[in-house]
Amino acid sequence: MSQQQFGLIGLAVMGENLALNVEHQGFSVAVYNRTTEKTDKFMSERAKDKKIQATYSPKELVNSLERPRKILMMVRAGKAVDAVISQLKPLLEPGDILIDGGNSFYEDTARRSQELKSANLEFIGMGVSGGEEGALKGPSLMPGGSEFAYETLEPILTKIAAQVEDGPCVTYLGSGGAGHYVKMVHNGIEYGNMQLIAEAYDVLNHGLGLDNEQLHSCFSAWNATEELNSYLMEITANIFQYIDPESNTPLVDNILDVAEQKGTGRWTVMGALELGVPVPTISAAVNARTMSAFKKERSIVAQALCSTIKKYQVDIQSFIDKLRDALYCAQICSYAEGMELLRAASQVHDYKLNLSEVARIWKGGCIIRAKCLDDIQDAFRQKPDLQNLLLARNFKEAILNKLPVWREVIATAVALDIPIPAFSASLAYFNTYRRDRLPQNLIQAQRDYFGSHTYERIDKPGVFHTEWNLVE
Ligand code: ATR
Repeated sequence: MSQQQFGLIGLAVMGENLALNVEHQGFSVAVYNRTTEKTDKFMSERAKDKKIQATYSPKELVNSLERPRKILMMVRAGKAVDAVISQLKPLLEPGDILIDGGNSFYEDTARRSQELKSANLEFIGMGVSGGEEGALKGPSLMPGGSEFAYETLEPILTKIAAQVEDGPCVTYLGSGGAGHYVKMVHNGIEYGNMQLIAEAYDVLNHGLGLDNEQLHSCFSAWNATEELNSYLMEITANIFQYIDPESNTPLVDNILDVAEQKGTGRWTVMGALELGVPVPTISAAVNARTMSAFKKERSIVAQALCSTIKKYQVDIQSFIDKLRDALYCAQICSYAEGMELLRAASQVHDYKLNLSEVARIWKGGCIIRAKCLDDIQDAFRQKPDLQNLLLARNFKEAILNKLPVWREVIATAVALDIPIPAFSASLAYFNTYRRDRLPQNLIQAQRDYFGSHTYERIDKPGVFHTEWNLVE
C-alpha cells in the first residue's frame, strides 16, 4: 500500500475534523486512536470514500507514513501527550515531525521540545482555535517549536487554516512553547471578551428590561458595527433566538448560570502574575466564572443579603448606545492586556513574537476573531515595539472620545447593583495606566513603617528608611 502523507492520533471531535480537513485539502491521511471502536466508527461514518487509512497501533501508524513522518497528536492535554510521545519515540526516525495540537501548558511544550530535540526528532506545539467547525473548515493555527519542521509542514498548514484577505491564519510564532503560549493568551482574551459581553447582557436584561427578542436585535446591531463586529457577538445574537424545543421557551433562560473552565484563563492570569504584567480584565473574567460556581451559596445569600436589582428608567435607547461604546473600550483593554503579556513573554522566553502577525492569524477561524483585529494588526505593524495598544493612535482617540460614556455606564451599573467586574477592571486598568502619580507612595510608607522595607524619594536618589514610630 502507498504511504500516507499525514498522520493523526486522537479521534475525538477535533481530531476527526482536522483529519477530514487535511484530507479535503488533498493530502492522504492515516489515523490512529487508542480505542479502536472510535476508529471504526469514524471510518464507517465520516471517512468513507476518503483518502483516509485506519491504523490500529502506533507502529502501524508510523509504518504507514511517508518520510519525514508528520504526525499530529490531538489527545487530551497533560499525561496523555507524554504517554503517546513515549509510545512513538522508539518507532520514529531522525527528522520525523511530531505536532501537539492540544491545549497543552506551554511549559510542558517547552520541556517536550527539548526532550525530542535531543532524540533528533522535530517537535511543534500548536494551538488550534475555532472549535469543531473551525477544525473542519479552517481553524486559526498557532504553531511554535522547530522552525525547520514548520517549513516542512507549511504547505499543509497554510491550506488547512482559515483564509482571510491577507493570507492563511497560520504563521511560525517562535521556539519552544511559543505556540501554546499564544494560544493560552488567546483564550485569556476570549475569557475577557466573553465576560464583558455577559455583563453587557446583564445590564441590558436586568437593568434595562430588554427581552430576548430585543437582546437579539441589540447584539445583531452591535455586530453590524465596525467596532464591535466579532464572532462572539454574532453567536451571542443568535443565542437569544434559540427556542428550547422541550420547554418552548428561549434556551438561554433555561441554562444554569455556572460557567465551567478548563484552565487556560487561569493559566493566563498565573503567567501574567509570574511576569509582572497586569491583566485585570482577564483576571476579573476568571474570578467571575469562579464565583458563578458557588451557585448553592449564592441562592441562599441572595435572600440573606437582600439582592434586588434596580431598573434603569431614563432614556433606554441612548443608554444602549453608551453601553455599546463602553463595551468597545473594555474589549480593547482585554486585547491590550493580552498583547502586553505576549510582549513580556516573548522577551523572557525569547520567542521573538511578531505581534502584528499574531493579530493577523486571529482574524479568521478562531473564537476571538473580530474586525478590531485589523486595527490591532496595523498598530503593531506600524510600531512593532508599541508600548501598549492603548497608545496606538486609533485606539487612543476612540477611547478618549468614549471615556465619558464608558465611565457613565459603569457608574450606572454600580448604582443599579449590577456587578460588572470586567467592565470595572478595564476602566481601572485604563485610569491606572494613565496616572502619573498613584497612591503607592503610601504603600511604600506602610511597608517601611511595619517592616523597614525602605523606599525611594521623588526629590533625590537613594534608598531610605524612617523610624516612623518616632513621629509625634
Ligand atoms: P473527549 O474530547 O471525547 O472528552 P478526551 O478524553 O479528552 O476526549 O480524549 C481525546 C483523545 O485523546 C481521544 O482520542 C482519546 O483516546 P480514547 O478514544 O482512546 O479515549 C485520547 N487519549 C486520551 N488519553 C490517552 C492516552 N493516555 N493514550 C492515548 N490516547 C489518549
